Amino acid sequence: MVRKIVTYPAEILTKPTQEVDIVDKEVRNLIKDMFETMYDAEGVGLAANQIGVPLKVMVIDTSPKEDAPPLKVVLINPRIVEKEGKIKYKEGCLSFPGLQVEVERAKKVRVEALNEHGEPTELTLEGFPAIVFQHEMDHLEGITFIDRLKAWRRRIALEKYKKILKELEK
Ligand code: NI
Repeated sequence: MVRKIVTYPAEILTKPTQEVDIVDKEVRNLIKDMFETMYDAEGVGLAANQIGVPLKVMVIDTSPKEDAPPLKVVLINPRIVEKEGKIKYKEGCLSFPGLQVEVERAKKVRVEALNEHGEPTELTLEGFPAIVFQHEMDHLEGITFIDRLKAWRRRIALEKYKKILKELEK
């Protein structure tokens, strides 16, 4: 089922989510809805709190972006265990329709998480998949991409976003 995407400044986007205890039918159902919602919105990543569920679950599928290494993955209770290098990229976010901001992130990350079967998994991501992962990881911690900007850039981005929202309301 395609669910409604929560947009900023909804409070749920600014609060850390909770760990998943058991990967049960309910969680698997959530994952299914998250993929459907992400594809419907033409996104490449989605965090559970973006559809109003405050749990540490994210889905990623970078395949719509043709020049990026393809990665389709579900990560539950993810943790970054290693970071390396720096990369800047102009990011978008389904919770900030129409806004793009350049964010600096680690170029390479090593991640530990549970997969959709509840099994421990470990992966190393680099480049675009690493960027998407860190963006979604931030969501799960209640951090949005504008929080990664210097104060003055954040102010400009918020002003731009306010204008976009006004245009969308028309
Ligand atoms: Ni986002």
